Amino acid sequence: MHPFVGTGIPRPNSVADRQSGMTMMKLTIRRPDDWHLHLRDGAILQAVAGETARHFDRAIIMPNLVPPVRTAADASAYRDRILAALPAGAAFTPLMTLYLTEDTDPADVARAHAEGIVHAVKLYPAGATTNSASGVRDFDRIQPVLETMAKIGLTLCVHGEVTDTEVDIFDREAVFLDRVLEPLRQRNPELPITLEHVTTREGVDYVRDAPGRVAGTITTHHLIINRNHILAGGIRPHYYCLPVAKRDTHRRALVDAATSGNPRFFLGTDSAPHVDALKESGCGCAGCFTATNTLSCLAQVFEAAGALERIEGFASLHGPAHYGLAPNAGSITLTRQETPVAYPAKIDSKDGPITLFDPGFDLFWSVTDGTHHHGETA
Ligand code: DOR
Ligand code: ZN
Repeated sequence: MHPFVGTGIPRPNSVADRQSGMTMMKLTIRRPDDWHLHLRDGAILQAVAGETARHFDRAIIMPNLVPPVRTAADASAYRDRILAALPAGAAFTPLMTLYLTEDTDPADVARAHAEGIVHAVKLYPAGATTNSASGVRDFDRIQPVLETMAKIGLTLCVHGEVTDTEVDIFDREAVFLDRVLEPLRQRNPELPITLEHVTTREGVDYVRDAPGRVAGTITTHHLIINRNHILAGGIRPHYYCLPVAKRDTHRRALVDAATSGNPRFFLGTDSAPHVDALKESGCGCAGCFTATNTLSCLAQVFEAAGALERIEGFASLHGPAHYGLAPNAGSITLTRQETPVAYPAKIDSKDGPITLFDPGFDLFWSVTDGTHHHGETA
């Protein structure tokens, strides 16, 4: 049986199919950005950089390498490696971030921002996720950096989960909001904050209602899967990510937020490639690799919600506004085909294959270039 049968997940394609006369549709939107992306390094970077650059003009690049991207110098060197890994002719700008530790130097952060090297600083609670061991345990120790960031208007990107082993993994986001994020925000009311990969109704409510410059990113996969996809009818490691997918009521709250048009919500795919050997293991890594088919998936989710006209805000407009950047000049065209779009099941890398996210339904929206950065036709 197909893993998605009987899970209660709406099948966006069948909804769309019922709409009369809708066999072919085209939608041209500003070129999108990805406000939360893992590109890794070495062989994986080589394999995945072009997957994002094909459709996205910019992305906020996560700093959780081994060792992490901690300083302006690290970020600048990593940026050069990313640019070198792009396919010839790709017009893609990596927006670099710094990995916040208890020893991060506020002066280095300010310099990295002033020189245009970094666009955000990433807060991982120590032990929350992949390569977060150097993250923060004592939030008082990062207060000087946060004060500097608030002054210069540099965004704090937050992995919003407590790491307390007493707290159930499905509650870790909601508990983080009360115990860590709201006190941190109250102490730093001017600090721009992105609550990343929101996975709960509580997270949606927090982002919508918090005073100040608070926004939330939503991933492609959290709009599509709930926890049953990971656990029902067999364990499916390619759906395991962090924060872990929750009950379907939470997924529906995420869809409502993403398709609402509220500018506080925008796309951060958290596309997180791991080779299959590390996913399909006795202790598998967290992460869904969605870079390749994200826009097809999103178009289908927005179509099913009757909100296609709002996909541009979510993917291309709200993010730049939160980060104080202009939207991209170019465009992409989404075309609804009559037959499913073919995507590879895996991307090859020199370290091994990387499985592409399977939404569990056929994808009918294909993506073609409209125009590029400078207005030339692709
Ligand atoms: O699923 C995830 N994968 N969540 C994270 O927070 C980290 C990421 C990764 O780096 O693999
Ligand atoms: Zn991530």
